[in-house]
Amino acid sequence: MMDDLRDKYLAAIASAADEASLEELRVAAVGKKGEVSLKMRGLGKMTPEERQVAGPALNALKDEINSALTAKKIALADEALDARLAEEWLDVTLPSRPRPEGTIHPVSQVTEEVTAILADMGFAVAEGPQIEDDWYNFDALNIPSHHPARTEMDTFYMHRAEGDNRPPHVLRTHTSPVQIRSMQQHGAPLRIICPGRVYRADYDQTHTPMFHQVEGLAIDKDISMANLKWVLEEFFSAFFGTSVKTRFRASHFPFTEPSAEVDIQCSWEGGTVKVGEGDGWLEVLGSGMVHPKVLEAGGIDPAEWQGFAFGMGIDRMAMLKYGVPDLRAFFDSDLRWLRHYGFRSLAVPTLHGGL
Ligand code: PHE
Repeated sequence: MMDDLRDKYLAAIASAADEASLEELRVAAVGKKGEVSLKMRGLGKMTPEERQVAGPALNALKDEINSALTAKKIALADEALDARLAEEWLDVTLPSRPRPEGTIHPVSQVTEEVTAILADMGFAVAEGPQIEDDWYNFDALNIPSHHPARTEMDTFYMHRAEGDNRPPHVLRTHTSPVQIRSMQQHGAPLRIICPGRVYRADYDQTHTPMFHQVEGLAIDKDISMANLKWVLEEFFSAFFGTSVKTRFRASHFPFTEPSAEVDIQCSWEGGTVKVGEGDGWLEVLGSGMVHPKVLEAGGIDPAEWQGFAFGMGIDRMAMLKYGVPDLRAFFDSDLRWLRHYGFRSLAVPTLHGGL
């Protein structure tokens, strides 16, 4: 009778497929109302002699079933782990999958280079919106409405809702509005550069409707054109890796007085430009002493402060340094061009690395 019970449960435990059926078997055999437990309760009705035989036998049976349950439970867990290990196995010696690697665009590279050089000279990087209030783009820079400079700049105007008569926002035509925003935000003294995108409706070999400038602004008590010239010559020499002469030509911008356009020394031979040699000149930026009205618009007292500003074309600098003949190719997204003129993503430009 007890042997039947033993065989029945041990066989069932051995063939249990999961933990849930093991639990069912445990309840059926040794749970409160399990078959073995009921039999143990029946011991009381036995004669002492019968009990002496049946008691130890039942206890032994209970122990045997419990250990069988525990052993099976461990075996099931081991099987599950083995199955998972087999399934999730990974060959770490396989070669990695090829991953397409892009390149850094020359404009990004040159922006980094320009920033590294000027940051080293004490200029902080400032930013402003590309969709700009016309006050920041024009009025605050001493370009009132109807000033010819507004039309000369081939401005893109944003659309205004019907009936909204406020002057339209513009796509900024230069980075100069960031001068005003920085003055308002930080006051004087101030030393910032602002690299960024600018927009003008223009398109030929040296003009695209979107291009890049870097603005420079230095305001302090006694800053002069001499400081401007030193900063620019230091900058060009570091950027081109050779000493570069500059030529200041008197010019006119509404936001600077006096104003100068700056040329750098170069040679033209066989259709290629070489910077820092020869007796040719190439115009690369506009500059001057910040106009008192512009300081006022920025909330800075022109009786106390003065300074210089410049605006340089980043794309033009990239064309010169890396010998790119056509500006439009910068924005064609031609993969062959990008692979040829692009830079390795890990080759970060630094001053000590020669940029
Ligand atoms: N904003 C001028 C331009 O885009 C450049 C400039 C900047 C000139 C600062 C003088 C001072 O042409």
